Amino acid sequence: MAFVVTDNCIQCKYTDCVEVCPVDCFYEGPNFLVINPDECIDCALCEPECPAEAIFEEDDVPDNMKQFIEINEELSQTWPNITEKSDPLPDAADWDGKPNKIEKLER
Ligand code: SF4
Ligand code: F3S
Repeated sequence: MAFVVTDNCIQCKYTDCVEVCPVDCFYEGPNFLVINPDECIDCALCEPECPAEAIFEEDDVPDNMKQFIEINEELSQTWPNITEKSDPLPDAADWDGKPNKIEKLER
């Protein structure tokens, strides 16, 4: 079991989540973050920290976002580790809450 970053992180990338992770298992792409499911210890600390409410426990990922379970697994193998908060993306406030941002995911 692991926590999963989903659609609403895309184009926002607030990064509040990385500050609380005790095992530093977040990985950063151009406009999205992912969690390495093998490293996540399921502590749940990151979930309430995300202003975009983009983080779910694997079992609670909404049906229309199940593909993000695999996306986190896959991209955490190649993207660099991130351990400190940085500025959100410039248009984060405008993108927050928009549906189906997966079309904008940059790998
Ligand atoms: Fe890190 Fe805990 Fe979130 Fe897993 S649940 S990504 S260990 S803060
Ligand atoms: Fe993304 Fe939320 Fe973290 S927007 S970077 S999962 S705080």
